[in-house]
Amino acid sequence: MKKVRKAVIPVAGFGTRFLPATKSTPKEMMPLIDKPIIHYIVEEAVNSGIETIIFVTGRHKRAIEDYFDYYPELEQVLNKSGKEKEIEMLRQISNMAEFVFIRQKQQLGLGHAVLTAANLVGNEPFAVLLGDEIIKNDEKPGIKQLIDIYYQFGKSVIGTMEVPKEDVSKYGIVAGKEVINGIKIIESLIEKPSVEEAPSTTAIIGRYVLTPNVFDALRETPIGRGGEIQLTDGLSKLREKEVIYAKDIEGIRHDTGNKLGYIEAIIDFALDRQDLKDEVFKMIKEKYKEMEKDSVEQN
Ligand code: UTP
Repeated sequence: MKKVRKAVIPVAGFGTRFLPATKSTPKEMMPLIDKPIIHYIVEEAVNSGIETIIFVTGRHKRAIEDYFDYYPELEQVLNKSGKEKEIEMLRQISNMAEFVFIRQKQQLGLGHAVLTAANLVGNEPFAVLLGDEIIKNDEKPGIKQLIDIYYQFGKSVIGTMEVPKEDVSKYGIVAGKEVINGIKIIESLIEKPSVEEAPSTTAIIGRYVLTPNVFDALRETPIGRGGEIQLTDGLSKLREKEVIYAKDIEGIRHDTGNKLGYIEAIIDFALDRQDLKDEVFKMIKEKYKEMEKDSVEQN
């Protein structure tokens, strides 16, 4: 069986939920403390055995290319002040993997973004990680959990999680039959259904391992919800030809593409850090006390 060596990370979306910040900063470059979101996602891929990262970008996303490149001028400045550790840290970022960039010339949807990478992926299985979703799992990275299932069955695997019924319309939803412990064979997929339409409460999250046959399926996929070529619709077409598995991903998921998810991720990562945890906890407690006091005074 072919190895899963390449990961496609689509980052061409406009990130309108974060305007005005995203007018000039890609949402993937927004920091969780001192590391941009995209850094965590690349780390997850690299820690799962991925060697080549294919970013599907747009012209407003140049900062991502720069982030994964060397920066000789900055190195020179750091060198002068003896900051060897910092230079080493910066180099490590660029050396994590081979980075490839391709432009999605028009933002025609996530399915279209994945299809844009078809020639770069070629005829081999590949991973897809969305550039604004973080999965925290120190034992086994999210995408590795799916890659292992790919090695077991040799077919596409979609990462999922259970969501409350009222939230189904925010996600792609799949329904299927469990085959072995937590792994389902998918029977239907639908993008952002209404509560009535949804065949289950199993939501697709931003992690996939796909066979290259998905590209032909995407080529046949018509424009769908929101006037975009949806990856979920492409996978629905692929499912007509070959089996697709689904697995609930273990770990903490942060959807950093929306404001609350972003704030939650910052708090979570800060409380995880030895150098920040105590002070941040104190800060939260004090804020909480202040807010309690205010609400008592108001009532
Ligand atoms: P989102 O729906 O989060 O879109 O896309 P967005 O434009 O980035 O953000 P909002 O909704 O306007 O705030 C999910 C993922 O698919 C990528 C996005 O970059 C994001 O990682 N995407 C979406 C593309 O690469 N190309 C597209 O045409 C659409």
